[in-house]
Amino acid sequence: MSESMSGLHRSKRCGELTESDIGSTLTLMGWVQKRRNLGSLIFVDLRDRSGIMQLLFDENVIGEEGYKKAYAVRSEFVLAVTGKVQKRGGAVNKDLMTGTMELLVDDIRILSESETPPFPIEENIDTKDEIRLKYRYLDLRRPDIQKNLFFRSEVTNAIRTFMHNEGFIDVETPMLTKSTPEGARDYLVPSRIHKGAFYALPQSPQLFKQLLMCSGFDRYFQIARCFRDEDLRADRQPEFTQVDLEMSFVNADDVMSLTERLVAYVFKQTMNYDIPLPLQRMPWTEAMDRFGSDKPDTRFGMELVDVSEIAKDSGFSVFADAIKNGGTVRAMNVKGQGDMSRKKLDKLVEEAKACGAKGLSYIALKSDGTEKSTFTKFLSDDEKNAYIKKCEAEQGDLLLFTADTFKVAREVLGQLRVELGHELGLIDESKFNFLWVVDFPMFEWSDDQGRYLAMHHPFTMPYEEDLPMLSDPTKLGQIRSHAYDIVLNGTEMGGGSVRIHQNDVQEKMFEALGFTKEQAEERFGFLLTAFKYGVPPHAGLALGLDRMIMLMTHAESIRDCIAFPKVKDASDLMSEAPDSVEDKQLEELHIKVVED
Ligand code: AMO
Ligand code: AMP
Repeated sequence: MSESMSGLHRSKRCGELTESDIGSTLTLMGWVQKRRNLGSLIFVDLRDRSGIMQLLFDENVIGEEGYKKAYAVRSEFVLAVTGKVQKRGGAVNKDLMTGTMELLVDDIRILSESETPPFPIEENIDTKDEIRLKYRYLDLRRPDIQKNLFFRSEVTNAIRTFMHNEGFIDVETPMLTKSTPEGARDYLVPSRIHKGAFYALPQSPQLFKQLLMCSGFDRYFQIARCFRDEDLRADRQPEFTQVDLEMSFVNADDVMSLTERLVAYVFKQTMNYDIPLPLQRMPWTEAMDRFGSDKPDTRFGMELVDVSEIAKDSGFSVFADAIKNGGTVRAMNVKGQGDMSRKKLDKLVEEAKACGAKGLSYIALKSDGTEKSTFTKFLSDDEKNAYIKKCEAEQGDLLLFTADTFKVAREVLGQLRVELGHELGLIDESKFNFLWVVDFPMFEWSDDQGRYLAMHHPFTMPYEEDLPMLSDPTKLGQIRSHAYDIVLNGTEMGGGSVRIHQNDVQEKMFEALGFTKEQAEERFGFLLTAFKYGVPPHAGLALGLDRMIMLMTHAESIRDCIAFPKVKDASDLMSEAPDSVEDKQLEELHIKVVED
């Protein structure tokens, strides 16, 4: 049975009632949170997006028929009720804003019935993610999830206000595009009209925003959807949203300063949180040396120590060999963990291996004065003591060592540092620690592909003084770039760069990345041509909006900040996308599916 709401107008939302409403007759509409019967009285908690209001059905007031209806309601029925607001007769509920009041109902309409929901609509439920996502529309009724989405809307509103006031124009760029290689795999869309040809969904609006600079818009921004077919993690989705911006006639400082003012404005407007500006800037090399990460979590110490000087003549061949082979030995002092159990130490070694290390060596300085180590038997006392001194270790501390290439030795300890930081409770979760990581290397060697890849993207400007090295394949690894990442609490929240605006440099860049002239022309011809007609120097950046909301709300996953997210295998459990399509559709697209 569903009744019409015609003739009724909702007076207020449930959570918006105040004690000044006591004595007024109001109409409320919402969902039944729960119902309790007490003889001739029925209590119903009515919920909408603003909160909960208690309804009281008294058979003597509402009459027999109304009472019967109230008796029939179940969780998640949708009701319209009219009645008088009064002070609660029974106990006051201090958890509710409206906990001192109730609505004595004299008219009830059941607007819609509900089957028993697959999980209760409550905060902090521990229902399995798969069930929550299958019934996402119900999950989205839960106040904690709703709060995240309301908050997200506040954030985008603040972003738009700030950007508008700074003279940025919001321009939409196409979703059906040509692929812009940024490291991830493209989502492709087959063309019906052009047999065998495909659009790519944009990984970011990168090329279009650069073209908008060529067109003279000077300051562009967009809250843009991006698509990347990559392995998903807690902070990654196949489609996600960027706060994308680009500016003309500016340098890296201008973009970083604008961005940090934007972020500070948003934090102030939406959380009343003050971010002290300017933000710290840390060169990439320093971040890697001290934290073993290009997105250091600076909320705690436990920094890495370079012990290569001591290790180069080590009696332990793993160390000496690593250095002989052009690598390094790095250490980390895990304070107060010298008594860690053998089992836990073994687990650390396994974790290090899972992160790509060949092994992990340790010296555990136990609090009883003895020590446990995998390798001190190979060392002289002098060498051992030199490590202890360099790491400022005391009795009761645990020293971890990795000997490897610069990349692996630092990154492995960097990952262990973050894991241990969480595990040992070293992180103050209430802090928001921002910093810029700057001066990224232009290129990164890819073992998989056997060539250098652009660390940020191929449109990033190298340091002017490093430009000559672009033509020397042996020196590509040394070129620094004008790229910068904004990092919050160990997560990369955004990144950008000064762009190449000179055709000859861009061509050299494509060459260094292994594109032939023809390939570069075919992929990026339109950009290279545009650069022939007067292009302003320009620079920009994109913030990951979903990640930013995740960090601001302390959500565990980016999924909790997106209305309809996808799961690890990139599917949508609710709509069951992706799905097969009809043969006719495939035919029109000239596509044949090959069965395995
Ligand atoms: P970049 O690739 O660094 O730069 O992306 C910018 C920011 O977008 C967020 N992000 C993601 N968020 C969720 N899921 C994902 N799969 C995902 N991938 C990236 C991150 C990241 O810092 N065009 C350049 C920007 C520029 O140079 O202006 C770009 O896309 O927070
Ligand atoms: P293996 O020679 O592989 O048996 O290793 C001997 C010991 O050295 C083990 O405790 C390993 O965990 C450790 N080890 C091996 N390779 C490395 C490395 N690259 N860095 C640090 N420790 C290592």
